[in-house]
Amino acid sequence: MVIDARNVTLSLGSGEARVDILRGVDVAVRKGERVALLGPSGSGKSSLMAVLAGLESASGGEVVVAGQSLRGLSEDALAEARRGRISVVLQAFHLIPTMTALENVAVPLELAGHADPFAAAASELTAVGLGHRLHHYPTQLSGGEQQRVAIARALGPRPALLFADEPTGNLDAATGDTIVELLFGCLAETGATLILITHDRDLAARCDRIITMRDGLIASDTLTDPVAA
Ligand SMILES: Nc1ncnc2c1ncn2[C@@H]1O[C@H](COP(=O)(O)OP(=O)(O)OP(=O)(O)O)[C@@H](O)[C@H]1O
Ligand SMILES: [Mg+2]
Repeated sequence: MVIDARNVTLSLGSGEARVDILRGVDVAVRKGERVALLGPSGSGKSSLMAVLAGLESASGGEVVVAGQSLRGLSEDALAEARRGRISVVLQAFHLIPTMTALENVAVPLELAGHADPFAAAASELTAVGLGHRLHHYPTQLSGGEQQRVAIARALGPRPALLFADEPTGNLDAATGDTIVELLFGCLAETGATLILITHDRDLAARCDRIITMRDGLIASDTLTDPVAA
């Protein structure tokens, strides 16, 4: 199992302000599996992703990623565990505002020890249709362009495990289709595992498995029919 999470809870705030966001989630994901995470707004999808990716510490339960328990790891240890292996495309793209598109994409490649991070970053950006925006800063890019930079940044290191939170949410249909092809092409090439949050049922149907969340719990967990999909 690439991900083995048991009885995961996440509660934030205290007293009156306490919110129980995840209320005991069990999920195990096999290597190479492509999992879509569906569910209504506020059901806990992004929160679950944050906990599985080690961006947020669970309040309770156990999260094991690639054989390593995330319990008690410092932020530095978590970042080290992710480096070059795990990429995350967040719902808000979290590009570094003082860096150009090219620099944003080059950073994780540089950290992963790539021989020529800027050339590789330029080619990743060209693949998402942004070869003409290499030297633009995030504020000079449209929402969909920023989203594509975030995707190029995530795919660059060819991670073994990719988390993506509504990666096509800001894209028009044609651009979204191109990005989805790029994403699934990259997965086919590397055999990477995908956890994909989406509201798009057609996109979810391309995955191997669909998990639906409701009120901080998993409501259903089913394999997709490869013939129907
Ligand atoms: N820092 C926080 N403090 C308190 N509550 C929070 C915090 N972050 C998220 N929540 C609450 O947790 C619940 C789950 O949020 P989450 O972002 O995981 O939902 P989601 O399923 O990703 O929704 P969406 O489809 O709208 O992105 C929401 O009710 C949200 O208001
Ligand atoms: Mg969300």
